[in-house]
Amino acid sequence: MAGIGIVIAILVTLVAVLIPWLPTSASEEMDRIEFVYWFATVISIAVFALVMAVLVYSVMAFRSPPEDESDGPPIHGNTGLEIAWTVIPAILVIAIGVLSAFVLSKNGEAGPNPLNVKVFAQQFAWRFVYPDDGGLKTGELVLPLNRTAKFEMESADVIHSFWIPDMGQKQDLVPGIKTSILVTPTRTGVFSLVCTELCGVGHSTMRATVRVLPQADFAAWVKERSEGGGGGSGDKAAALFADAGCGSCHAFAPAGTTSEVGPELDTLVAAAQKAGQDPADYVREAIVDPGKVIAPGYQDGVMPSSYGKTLSPAELDSLVAYLTGAK
Ligand code: CUA
Repeated sequence: MAGIGIVIAILVTLVAVLIPWLPTSASEEMDRIEFVYWFATVISIAVFALVMAVLVYSVMAFRSPPEDESDGPPIHGNTGLEIAWTVIPAILVIAIGVLSAFVLSKNGEAGPNPLNVKVFAQQFAWRFVYPDDGGLKTGELVLPLNRTAKFEMESADVIHSFWIPDMGQKQDLVPGIKTSILVTPTRTGVFSLVCTELCGVGHSTMRATVRVLPQADFAAWVKERSEGGGGGSGDKAAALFADAGCGSCHAFAPAGTTSEVGPELDTLVAAAQKAGQDPADYVREAIVDPGKVIAPGYQDGVMPSSYGKTLSPAELDSLVAYLTGAK
């Protein structure tokens, strides 16, 4: 029986170790979460191997011959065994619970100097604001290495969920309340932030790039972005198009986006001319009041009607110019 148990334990351990079930950790929080996974996995392997060893042994050793149709011997319980299989699993489950509570609490400690980042979610885009760095706004999440980032999150419409798989932490964004989560990156590189709550037709496109930079590079990035990036107005408009999340839903050749959630934008000027309208007025109305004219084949209510409020008049002008190809 011990031999069967050892063979099963080795096989299941190989399955656990050789298959990369989780992404390689890129945060302190993910390291702790992985530790909980492994703790529970080791216990599960031990219990599984024990149960299977007894089961397989019993099936082989106590098999009755085909012609034997008599009843088995009457057995009434075994107090020692029953106490053992109640107490041992209870201790193991409590141990997993205590460890999880410890990790959850540790993963909620921001430490003395967190980087504050506000996260705004709306169908189907992420936007980030860095209040410590002059209210810098971006559509990609850039984080310094080895410094805890504290995300204060709000949703403008429905429930979304913030998740960077390599960094483990996951938190819903719920309209009407503020939620928060901490992430301390331990690896530089490019990662993905994905929305992990079904939030509408564009849910699968609701992603943002996450870049983790060494602290000096992060400071340089903040400086460069705060000074306007040194680019012309066209560059600014392109950045605005990305930051406002337009590209998550719309294909637009100058921005290199290809999503098909909403109508493509390369034919806007032609559509305005066909409708006998000034292209700039036509585009402005489509951004501020997207429900007024719905392109054939698309649904009302998918594009947020909040852009008139979330974009400043200057940003709106710049976006209209960008979309109509005006200089
Ligand atoms: Cu937002 Cu799914």
